Amino acid sequence: MSELEIKSLEEQFDARIARDEKIEPKDWMPEKYRQTHIRQISQHAHSEIVGMLPEGNWITRAPSLRRKVALLAKIQDEAGHGLYLYSACETLGISREELYEQLHSGKAKYSSIFNYPTLTWADMGAIGWLVDGAAIINQVPLCATSFGPYARAMVRVCKEESFHQRQGFQIMMTLAEGTPEQKAMAQDALNRWWFPSLMMLGPTDDASVHTEQSMKWKLKRKTNDELRQQFVDQTVPQADMIGLTIPDPTLKWNAETKHYEFGELDWDEFWQVVKGHGPCNKIRIDARKKAWSNGEWVRDAAMAYAEKQANKEVKQAI
Ligand SMILES: [Fe+2]
Ligand SMILES: [Fe+2]
Repeated sequence: MSELEIKSLEEQFDARIARDEKIEPKDWMPEKYRQTHIRQISQHAHSEIVGMLPEGNWITRAPSLRRKVALLAKIQDEAGHGLYLYSACETLGISREELYEQLHSGKAKYSSIFNYPTLTWADMGAIGWLVDGAAIINQVPLCATSFGPYARAMVRVCKEESFHQRQGFQIMMTLAEGTPEQKAMAQDALNRWWFPSLMMLGPTDDASVHTEQSMKWKLKRKTNDELRQQFVDQTVPQADMIGLTIPDPTLKWNAETKHYEFGELDWDEFWQVVKGHGPCNKIRIDARKKAWSNGEWVRDAAMAYAEKQANKEVKQAI
């Protein structure tokens, strides 16, 4: 293809996105668009399945049958989210094996928040409330992103995330209304998860390298700092409502801007965790690698079965 032809294809492509048309897997797309989407969708898929690990740790220790059922359903939803997203990513021409290989080798990232440990039952509340709450803020705009399979997956994912957020908040509310020990446990979980949740919305705008291009492709509608502000403005009144204290002494309402002002975040800690030095990075990746090797016989059996069925169909056709 000549340079001129590519330029004209690119112009048509940009015009389609500007008109809010969806780009489908078989449509022509610039290589950079394909690569960026593989990176972002796979990072999202990996976050879903790694995110199952800190919570999976609490299924057997949930305090009642009702809590156990709700937590189990929530974690299963996350597996489903991973499945839609890996499938959406595969339509861009990368195999599931390659995607897993990138996760296991550390080449692909996942949300850093899952590298923190879950120390008490209240962490299940804080994760649902704050981590899934921040995920919703990130993901709702993606329902209108330009790549069709990603946008459609997000519609269902967001509905389920809102259940996750409520089940988490409900756990926190119950603990906050409980005995002084239970309330202290909820407060301790909020203290530990607050700042990592704010950082989950990504580096500050001046340190974010992908924002401009992602805005153009509608992979982003708001900057990281705008999303973070939205999260703080939405979450602080919820903490007030259940009588818990946001662990930030500098937090204050600005009546003029109608936003909360909040303190500096520890970006050194954020980058340390991203680079693999968080408290649980190794445990998480080891758990994923173990799941992959334990599942080998299932994959082999499924492939053998599929081959057998295909041969049967060929024979019948003859
Ligand atoms: Fe999810
Ligand atoms: Fe979730």
